Amino acid sequence: MTTSPIQLGDVPNEHGYRPFTLGGFRFERDEHFVHVQWPTGRHVTAAEPFLKAMMRDVAWNFFYGTVNFDSVIGTLNHYGNVDLFAGRFNEEYRKAELDHSENFPHDEIKETFQAILNDWVNEDFDPFAAPMETGSAYGEKSGNNSRAVTRTRVAAKRMVGLPDDEPLRSDESGYPVNRAFLDVDLDEPVVEVVKGYENEVSAFNFFGYLSRSDVTWNPSVVSVCRDSLMCPTTEEFILPIIHGNDRVEWFLQLSDEIIWEVEDRESGKPRAKVVMKAGDCAAMPADIRHQGYSPKRSMLLVWENNSPDLPGMIARGEAPTVPVTF
Ligand SMILES: [Fe+2]
Repeated sequence: MTTSPIQLGDVPNEHGYRPFTLGGFRFERDEHFVHVQWPTGRHVTAAEPFLKAMMRDVAWNFFYGTVNFDSVIGTLNHYGNVDLFAGRFNEEYRKAELDHSENFPHDEIKETFQAILNDWVNEDFDPFAAPMETGSAYGEKSGNNSRAVTRTRVAAKRMVGLPDDEPLRSDESGYPVNRAFLDVDLDEPVVEVVKGYENEVSAFNFFGYLSRSDVTWNPSVVSVCRDSLMCPTTEEFILPIIHGNDRVEWFLQLSDEIIWEVEDRESGKPRAKVVMKAGDCAAMPADIRHQGYSPKRSMLLVWENNSPDLPGMIARGEAPTVPVTF
């Protein structure tokens, strides 16, 4: 007699939520908590932060480097395949040999995470929203929110403003100005283009564009120039993940304030607390992990070098972990 493995979306438990397995990992949720088990240990965490972190991991396609859901669970992107780990970047878990890591094809882990979100996010809860703009993540299973959990980042095909851009720039777009940005001037710049260059020259009101962002901690892409990606985003409350960089990442604080907790990427030991006010610019090193706190909804421009060669060059010591040494 053979025992069949637990399939994606096995029968719901007494709270209405299905359990899920991926390799040696098993995920379950109840009214308040998510329980994760692996061959050498187990972890319990509150449902709301877990779902908000998993939502970012899916929407960002596992992002650059490490996405720590908390100090124990997370993913490490190898661009094509992804490690799911427990305790891998936690010194004490490693010492106690409770850590565990498994590698999965990109599509397999993404499909599993998407299935968990489809089942565990209730109708009233939007994991992308600021706390004051969503209902509760807790309680017995109650409907689903497929519109929210299948949302992906807005990515311009060209610079915003040029033909074929993502037209997130007027009330007709369906994106009203957020409550926090009602004082932002929405006038668009006047650009007089020499005949023949209408397809190549434009400008747009960047603050006006960002004031219509309906999500938090989910960068859009407004310009692509080879590997240079300009990724602005609006932030409120706490970044739902602790991001472990695999390359230098530039931050330009466009409005208000974000407080960053910066730790060593491997051990989690504190390295710096960075308070960024409007106009401040910082380069986050390639060997850190960080989590941001935005007391009021703020605008942040993240500048990424998307080159696939960078993580290897940094790991081999061929490129520095900081952009400049003083
Ligand atoms: Fe980062």
